[in-house]
Formats: sequence, C-alpha cells, structure tokens
Amino acid sequence: MIEKLLVIGAGFLGNTIFQLATKTGLTTSCTNKTHGSIHLDIREIHMIEKVINSVKPDLIINCAALTNIDEIEREPKTAYDVNSIGAGNIAKIAKKNKIKFVHISTDGVFDGSERLYLESDKTNPINEYAKSKKLGEDLVLETYDDSILVRTNFYGHNNENKFLFNWILNNLKQNQKFTAFSDVIFNPLEICNLSLMILDIMKTDFRGIVNIAGDEIISKYQFAYKIAKTLNFDTNLVESGSIKNSSLIANRPLNTSLSNKLAKSLITTEIIPLEKWLKEKFLNVS
Ligand SMILES: NC(=O)c1ccc[n+]([C@@H]2O[C@H](COP(=O)([O-])OP(=O)(O)OC[C@H]3O[C@@H](n4cnc5c(N)ncnc54)[C@H](OP(=O)(O)O)[C@@H]3O)[C@@H](O)[C@H]2O)c1
Repeated sequence: MIEKLLVIGAGFLGNTIFQLATKTGLTTSCTNKTHGSIHLDIREIHMIEKVINSVKPDLIINCAALTNIDEIEREPKTAYDVNSIGAGNIAKIAKKNKIKFVHISTDGVFDGSERLYLESDKTNPINEYAKSKKLGEDLVLETYDDSILVRTNFYGHNNENKFLFNWILNNLKQNQKFTAFSDVIFNPLEICNLSLMILDIMKTDFRGIVNIAGDEIISKYQFAYKIAKTLNFDTNLVESGSIKNSSLIANRPLNTSLSNKLAKSLITTEIIPLEKWLKEKFLNVS
C-alpha cells in the first residue's frame, strides 16, 4: 500500500499532483530545484539519495524537467543533464531502495506524421527537448522495471500565469487578436484530471509505458476557439494560422494525439472534456 509519496519537481504538474494527493490524505512531500521546503537538483545523484533517505517514500513521481522547447533547441546540454541523466539518476536510487517509480514523459517523443499513437509505436523525436525526454525514457526503462512511464500532454489554469491556456485567456480578456495553429493537433487533458489519473494508475500493478490523454483530438486553433466560444469572448479574436509560418525555433510534430485505450482499461477516472471543465471552472455551471 502507498502511504508516503514524493513528488520531484513541483512545477505546474508536480504541484497539482502534490496538492491533490495531500487532499486525498496521502502523506506527500515535494521538491523543487530553486524554491520550496526541499531543494533537490536531480543532476546530483547523492542529493537524490539524501532526500530519499530523509523522506522514505513508498512511491516517487518525477515531474522535474526543463520544458522550454525553443530555449533547449538553442542550448540543449542542460536539458540532457536534467531530462535524461537526471531521470536516470532517480531510477537508479529508486531501484536501490526498491521504491516504485512514476516518470512523466511527453507526447512530443513522436514525429507527428501518424495519429493516435499507441504505447508500442516507434518514437522519433524531432527537436532537442523531445530527444532529451526520449533518452530519459530509455534510461528509466532500462534501469528499473518497477517503473510506470506516462506519456501525456495537458492544459490548465496556471497561477503564475504561464503556459498555453493562460496565454489564450489573457489575449481574450485583453480583446487582442492572436493566431492559433490549425495544423498542430493534440489530445491534452486538464491538469487536475490528469493528476487524478496519475494518482490512480500508481496504485495499479501496471508497469511500463502508458499514454494518459484526453478523448478530444483537436488543433490548437480549435482549442483556442472553443475556449473563446464557451467563455463568451469574441471568437473573431482567434485567427487560424499555420505553424509553417511561425517564428518558433524548434521543429514541432504536427499530430501528437495519443491513444488512451490502455489507460482506460487500467483506471476508471472519468475524462473531463474541455467545455465541461471551462463551464464548471469559469461559469459555475455544472
Ligand atoms: N507543460 C507541458 O505542456 C507538458 C506537456 C507534456 C509533457 N510535459 C512533461 O510534464 C512534466 C512536468 O512539466 P511542467 O510543465 O509541470 O514543468 P514546469 O512547470 O516547468 O516544472 C518543472 C519542475 O522541474 C524542476 N526542475 C528543473 N530543473 C531541475 C533539476 N535540475 N533538478 C530538480 N528539479 C528541477 C523545477 O524546479 P524549479 O522551479 O525550482 O526550477 C520545477 O519544479 C515534465 O516532465 C514535462 O516534460 C509537460
């Protein structure tokens, strides 16, 4: 039975998991590199060991990563140190101490030329961030077989006003026109919904790779349009564009939709559609 959980990397996802796990009564600790109560740099394996010895968790969830795709494209080395070697370091210490391990990866490990990727499909990362995450996956899986590797993508309201959803909402609130890509397709989950699914899957006997993704396969344009329409903003503010005309530095895969069949066979947490979440969170409609 899992009684003590350690979340490494309490950023957007890690902090959401930490808050929800604590609410469910699990004794949960979390770490950050630069702030919070426990400082941990996963590039330093002895630091991981020290934190594990002090917290003594039954399960570790690794959400620590560098995620700024364009910054990483310019300066990749640190991303490999954190996203690849750091992830492998945690797997080594988890194995040594026989602690179950959940590692968070990304839908970005695919090249986007197919759709609805299965866990067994061939990966082919096309930017440095995705390559560093793929190498992290490999190091985790080859180091420790008591690991669950979650491939996912998510959205949500970020208290620090960062990430895609807040960017869209800010533009809409400021009555500012913006372009959203109609040729980039994904099936993200709302972050609390995803966190509850991760907390469920960690309790199962499943080991290996699992996609945790939503049921709606939509373009970034459709995603932004739905937010504008549901929250009663002017939908003309959302302009359709192509990623091919963007000034982004790193290549992005065009379709990273993931099959969620396996996850659905393992856990029963209901998937909450974007529109339902928007209405409940912002319009108080249930
Ligand atoms: N964001 C997305 O849209 C998305 C999509 C798919 C998958 N993912 C994956 O989901 C996971 C969580 O992403 P997120 O968006 O929650 O990231 P985030 O908000 O950027 O948080 C990253 C966390 O990692 C910590 N960290 C960075 N370098 C570290 C190091 N050397 N040692 C220890 N901790 C370190 C950060 O600590 P400090 O704050 O102290 O630096 C922060 O707590 C990542 O594995 C990411 O690849 C994200």
